[in-house]
Amino acid sequence: MDGKALAAQVRAEVAREVAELGRPIGLATVLVGEDQASALYVRRKQEACAEVGIEAIHHELAAETSEAELLGLVAELNADERVTGILVQLPLPEQVDESRVIRALDPVKDVDGFHPASAGHLLQGEPTFVAATPAGIMEILRAYEIPLEGSRAVVVGRSNIVGKPMGLLLLAENATVTTCHSRTRDLAAVVREADVVVAAVGRAAMITKEMVKEGAAVVDVGINRVDGKVVGDVADDVREVAGHLTPVPGGVGPMTIASLLRNTVRAARYQAGLLAFPGG
Ligand code: GUN
Repeated sequence: MDGKALAAQVRAEVAREVAELGRPIGLATVLVGEDQASALYVRRKQEACAEVGIEAIHHELAAETSEAELLGLVAELNADERVTGILVQLPLPEQVDESRVIRALDPVKDVDGFHPASAGHLLQGEPTFVAATPAGIMEILRAYEIPLEGSRAVVVGRSNIVGKPMGLLLLAENATVTTCHSRTRDLAAVVREADVVVAAVGRAAMITKEMVKEGAAVVDVGINRVDGKVVGDVADDVREVAGHLTPVPGGVGPMTIASLLRNTVRAARYQAGLLAFPGG
């Protein structure tokens, strides 16, 4: 399943929506510290914004930045009308309480979908901002017409960013969802039952050919660096049994960025009064 090609289509669609909206959209990106991977991800998001006509307003803070300073910046961005969406790149340095920073975001600008309000909206079946990685995966599954209703879906990984929202989205499409994690007994037996597998653990080759049912759709969220190469969580030979598979790179990653753009347009619509924000 070619996430790169699909993401290019989505970016073109978002560019049309931005033009139709006819008002400025500004995504504030906040990068704290010098993590190379984070810096690269933020740069890719800024480039994607530029391509579709969204202004990326970048803030780079030193690794020693205090929590109070970061909360101060978030408050400024919340109040700034030019800023319609806010993205604080994770992870944050250890002196900063990540969940406190996320909770400080104005929920109507939470384009990452990490605020408890956004998570709650999804949980209760009225999604506002859905975290970009699982949202992008759903779009891949839809584009490739992977049947979900009544299917068995196994999500490996239970993070707030991927595993938990992924399970909720698959459930909303009437899949029978199992979430596996580090304490799951006989992971292989559980995964082998799956028609749809989403691997989001962050360990190279942890899903092997023997664990995958013939014809299953396998989505690989992993980004692992092994001997200078980027590989996913799914072993190479899984392609011999899977009916569909997302490559790494070129699968989930580009669609994550495309979904962030969709969320950023959604934020602008809420703030323009074109869409009703629940409770807002
Ligand atoms: N770190 C890893 N993934 C993400 C993401 O989707 N958004 C942000 N802000 N930080 C991340």
